[in-house]
Amino acid sequence: MEKISAGLYQSAEYVEVGKIEKPTIETGEARVKVKYAGICGTDMMIFSGKHPRATAPLAMGHEFSGVIDDMQGSSAFSTGDRVVIEPTLSCGTCEACQNGNNHVCKELQLIGIDKHGGFAEYVKVPVDRLHPIPEKLPDTMAALTEPVAVAVHTVRRSDVNVGQTVAVLGAGPIGLLTGIIAKLAGAKEVIISDVSPYRLDKAEEMGLTPVDARHKDIKEEVMDRTMDKGADVVFEVAGNSVTAKQMVDLAKIQGQIVVVSVYKQPPEVNLAAMHFKEISLTTTRCYSHDDFKTAIAIMADELDLSGLISHVLPLDDIEKGFSLMKNPDNALKILIQPEREE
Ligand SMILES: NC(=O)c1ccc[n+]([C@@H]2O[C@H](COP(=O)([O-])OP(=O)(O)OC[C@H]3O[C@@H](n4cnc5c(N)ncnc54)[C@H](O)[C@@H]3O)[C@@H](O)[C@H]2O)c1
Ligand SMILES: [Zn+2]
Ligand SMILES: [Zn+2]
Repeated sequence: MEKISAGLYQSAEYVEVGKIEKPTIETGEARVKVKYAGICGTDMMIFSGKHPRATAPLAMGHEFSGVIDDMQGSSAFSTGDRVVIEPTLSCGTCEACQNGNNHVCKELQLIGIDKHGGFAEYVKVPVDRLHPIPEKLPDTMAALTEPVAVAVHTVRRSDVNVGQTVAVLGAGPIGLLTGIIAKLAGAKEVIISDVSPYRLDKAEEMGLTPVDARHKDIKEEVMDRTMDKGADVVFEVAGNSVTAKQMVDLAKIQGQIVVVSVYKQPPEVNLAAMHFKEISLTTTRCYSHDDFKTAIAIMADELDLSGLISHVLPLDDIEKGFSLMKNPDNALKILIQPEREE
């Protein structure tokens, strides 16, 4: 069996470059030579040893672009095509799948979490998970499609409308992208909080209104900017007990809260305060096939997100990538490049 190099999760806080078998493919599958793969918060959760499904050794990475190396069966694609991978895998038979909502499949799995993913030279992918990369979209940017699709789905799940004021808690990649897409959807102003000056600078660069939550009261800021009304829509994207409390204070009467975060511990939420303001609460998970296509189209047509990429590292430096990601002031989106110069 031919072996390939991969960045492997081995145990809590331990990732190393090792060897796995080069994937062989069957009908309906493609082998993709990976170009760039982003490190995401979910990879960090696997790395911390706390992900409920991931088992070692695992090539993580569910945000990746590449080129088709080989394919079995007929499809619209050809060997050599540049592709980005929609990493969700669904059962096709549960109620959600039967109703076309595969992204909330009862048995949902992801390439890079439940199976080997993009921190490897090659990955096996069902052909129906491939999307073509438009010519004008570089492979680096195409690797951002997955988090952009999360933001597209999040904003589509929300009531964001023209002229509204939106609050976003957390300026990580997902919070920033949610703010950017909310603006594309018509929001007049997006007020975004974080505790990292580096991420707040990025937010400002991208046309959002930053609030440093270390020194300022986010509720006061939102009330000041909305004539004491509150935000029309609040997106909770920081994922901790402080921001889960704040989200209720920031929403206007009859406003909406959208919880994007995946909490490590269930937070306390003031439901009584939500009742008095008749606030609605929405959650959001992953993205549909159409959200993914929209994410690609938006990036190719109008959105330059290159400012979100803080580092591009060779596979051999994957350990460094994971250690950089531990501090929000060090990094935003780190891309791993598994391809080796021959
Ligand atoms: N719904 C989905 O399908 C989906 C998909 C991807 C990620 N997520 C979740 O979205 C969340 C954000 O993801 P990410 O990759 O951007 O994570 P991240 O950790 O990079 O971003 C979180 C940000 O919150 C900031 N923060 C911490 N405390 C804060 C506070 N008190 N006030 C304001 N900001 C604060 C951090 O500095 C950080 O920049 C995570 O919980 C992740 O699990 C959900
Ligand atoms: Zn991700
Ligand atoms: Zn299903």
